[in-house]
Amino acid sequence: MAQMPRIIFKPFSKITSGTVVVPVGRKLKMGEFAGGLAAIAGLEKAAAAAGFTGASGTLSLYTPAATDLDAVIGVADGSKSDQIGDAHDAAMALGGRIQATLAKTRGAVTIVADGPDGVYDPQTVAAIAGGMLLRAYKFDRYQSPKDDENGDQNAKARAKDKPLAVTIQCADAAGAKKAFKDVAAIADGVMLARDLVNEPANMLGPVEFAARAAALEKLGVEIEVLTKKEMEKLGMRALLGVGQGSGRESRLVVMRWRGTKAKAAKPVAFVGKGVVFDTGGISIKPAAGMEDMKGDMAGAACVTGLMHALAARKAKVDAIGVIGLVENMPDGLAQRPGDIVKAMSGATIEIINTDAEGRLVLADALHYTIDRFKPQFVVNLATLTGAILVALGNLRAGLFCNDDALAGQIFDAGEATGERVWRMPLGKSYDKLIDSKFADMKNTGGRYAGSITAAQFLQRFVGDTPWAHLDIAGTGMSSPATDISDTWASGFGVRLLDRMVADAYEK
Ligand code: BES
Ligand code: MN
Ligand code: ZN
Repeated sequence: MAQMPRIIFKPFSKITSGTVVVPVGRKLKMGEFAGGLAAIAGLEKAAAAAGFTGASGTLSLYTPAATDLDAVIGVADGSKSDQIGDAHDAAMALGGRIQATLAKTRGAVTIVADGPDGVYDPQTVAAIAGGMLLRAYKFDRYQSPKDDENGDQNAKARAKDKPLAVTIQCADAAGAKKAFKDVAAIADGVMLARDLVNEPANMLGPVEFAARAAALEKLGVEIEVLTKKEMEKLGMRALLGVGQGSGRESRLVVMRWRGTKAKAAKPVAFVGKGVVFDTGGISIKPAAGMEDMKGDMAGAACVTGLMHALAARKAKVDAIGVIGLVENMPDGLAQRPGDIVKAMSGATIEIINTDAEGRLVLADALHYTIDRFKPQFVVNLATLTGAILVALGNLRAGLFCNDDALAGQIFDAGEATGERVWRMPLGKSYDKLIDSKFADMKNTGGRYAGSITAAQFLQRFVGDTPWAHLDIAGTGMSSPATDISDTWASGFGVRLLDRMVADAYEK
């Protein structure tokens, strides 16, 4: 992972060296930074000459006359992007844009997080810092440092550098430092999810993924790792059938964060599809773009990142995370189209297409989670269907839900965090499309409504438990860059579900 900036919070004081960053816009003009404490003559004039009003963009002024500063950088504090959610998310986006302007900066940086009217509260300041971390994230562990093609001759040298030292000057430094703890915990969860999704499948098989999840033990998360043998005993033939063509054994990981002493309360539960690589199996995928299928465990990565976030910020909730980890490979022993498998629930499934494997993994993971933990709700995440990309593109995840209240909570958290969802239909007539001639159901529903029939399949394993399925095939990987995400694996879902838990389930 790229070096993260080291961020500290300090009260306002006169800045005499290094680079100064000023959020400019509604709240602050270019020449007024540090609440006027260190106004520099001429900045307003320079901003006017460059046409920089703070409405958008940035303005960089190097070694301003009559100062020892390296640079003063104005960054517009608003954004017109409709990918941005509430005020907290807008502040994260501002932090992301600030980080982007600092990509080639060396030496100390001071961000002046306030206007003359003192409007940046501690949460906002912390969110700016969090946005900087998320934007700084890079997955470059397999790249040798080299001087980059943009003429940055220092890139190689900088790779060995100390991290960028950032001081955020603000009205309530102690408050911001405190608020930053939670923000950093969530950012770490997002970056863990990104790391897992970016990692190639030769490095991250089911066993290696399970070990990464087990590392959450150091945060106080209880971990159980079920082996193939243990899953066989439980009758998880749907999940195991997917992995049977792989040379690498399947795993199921159960994570539990007990952040509340309220015994009577049922836990909340999150379940993730963790196909470490999806070749399609015997129903093999075409070669073009198949490399992206290393990200077919984004659901499991999100659940792992979410458990990290909840534990690291000591969320007052009892949360279960369950991930089904398999590899879908063609092989002499691989599952065939036409095979019939019996899921842990007792239901039988006719395999029509071995590439519709995610639902098979989730069938057993969902049944196991509900059967064992009797959660108040279960949310599953999966890169389940290409069809959800056709429906929603890569800007919103598909939300399928059997409970209006739960759907509302997830939708609202999506609008707030900018990790947006859109509700899709479920119903009996869609459900019929997966009836099978030979078994209780089949694993595909024909040419049309592919995301819906996949969701119907999952619904057959959740009974009456309030349940939501997020199809993140479009949003979990190769989604568009944003102010706070400049990487292939967005980490989608961690901030969304952390917010949903915080707003609706923490006591
Ligand atoms: N992992 C894929 C879905 C996917 C596609 C994720 C593109 C990310 C990007 C899933 O296992 C799959 O192959 N689904 C099939 C289902 C079909 C065989 C019914 C699909 O979407 O084509
Ligand atoms: Mn598939
Ligand atoms: Zn898949």
